[in-house]
Amino acid sequence: MTSTAIEFFVQPGGTLQGAARVAGDKSISHRSIMLGALAEGTTHIQGFLEGEDTLATLAAFRAMGVEIERPSEQAVTIHGVGLHGLKAPEQALDLGNSGTSMRLLSGLLSGQSFDVTLIGDESLSRRPMRRVTTPLADMGAEIETTESGTPPLHIKGAAKLTGIHYEMPIASAQVKSCLLLAGLYAEGETSVTEPAPTRDHTERMLQSFGYPIQIEGNRVSIKSGGRLQATDIDVPADISSAAFFMVGASIASGSDVTLLHVGINPTRIGVLNILRLMGANIELLNERDVGGEPVADIRIRASQLKGIRIPEDQVPLAIDEFPVLFVAAACAEGETVLTGAEELRVKESDRIQVMADGLQTLGIQADPTADGIVIQGGQLQGGTINSHGDHRIAMAFTIAALRANAPIQILDCANVATSFPNFVSLARELGIELQQAI
Ligand code: S3P
Repeated sequence: MTSTAIEFFVQPGGTLQGAARVAGDKSISHRSIMLGALAEGTTHIQGFLEGEDTLATLAAFRAMGVEIERPSEQAVTIHGVGLHGLKAPEQALDLGNSGTSMRLLSGLLSGQSFDVTLIGDESLSRRPMRRVTTPLADMGAEIETTESGTPPLHIKGAAKLTGIHYEMPIASAQVKSCLLLAGLYAEGETSVTEPAPTRDHTERMLQSFGYPIQIEGNRVSIKSGGRLQATDIDVPADISSAAFFMVGASIASGSDVTLLHVGINPTRIGVLNILRLMGANIELLNERDVGGEPVADIRIRASQLKGIRIPEDQVPLAIDEFPVLFVAAACAEGETVLTGAEELRVKESDRIQVMADGLQTLGIQADPTADGIVIQGGQLQGGTINSHGDHRIAMAFTIAALRANAPIQILDCANVATSFPNFVSLARELGIELQQAI
């Protein structure tokens, strides 16, 4: 969405110290807008992520007639219109860089009485959508994509949806959530089986809004005919954003950082599990439950990491954290091997290739494979990195500078604002010497 070219220039070395609360959870923020809009009554959200991705979801619901107020920073008040109260938007809904918005909305909007078109930026326009449009078509939805199965999506209104049972071929929370949201409008029962556990924020939040769902093992089912009752939501800090400073504090000697109020949902803590396997010193403090989501303060102290073979069952639980985990691997002693992660090739960028290219530029041996990467720990040099407009690549290489022996320049960083708008100020506050140029 942001078109201005922004570059980061990061000085090498440093230590991370202090306590901070990173930006709100992106997945939970998206879902809070969607379910709040479809609920009956007024939903109050705090800790909302003010990122471009979640603001795109917010704007989409405003465009469909939902009154949404912003009483203060990170606070959102939604006057829900009920499951059948959305109105046709006047124009295509522009979802910017946000795959989550597009995939979840494709399910939700398949059940409406009006036609709608979903568009996105250059990166989103390259991302695969058949993973949602194929099962939605099986339910009776009418959606057109480009010939290669990419956006724009043209969704026809007034389709009669019928519940299906879908065995997901890939472990994807976006696909699961898309079908559950379509299931709110489908006749009978819709159920989804996942090949491996993925984030379950949709399931948890549907229950917080009083909507019954069934969970048995790896299968989730939902029936239409229920109602969502407005509720209050406290969005925890995003472990995917915390991950940058978890790795930063682990690799920069002398570091001691506490990250506050971070969501530690078991379907999201792959980064914590993987870093611990690598020898990281991570403590969970004040563990508590906040509105159905587990939360803790996370204290990280520097330690010598070692290379590992990353267990494949951790991949879906750390799917967004691999760019910065590759930086951890580059700073570890020995070899780190990742397999079973082909999904990384269809994120905001091809994260396997883009990270391998960047690490090689910095003098690290990083060999991409079809479904992962092999990284040899070593001494990071300075250099210029192209982030390809991928927020998590830009932030990962900012963290890499903590162990580089010369400055790192990172190109095309504007999209950091999609998920972590105050990354630069927080990084500086904790001890990274970072300049930003437009
Ligand atoms: C998300 C699911 C994941 C993740 C994305 C957010 C969600 O995508 O990468 O950033 O909020 O459901 P996949 O379902 O494609 O793995």
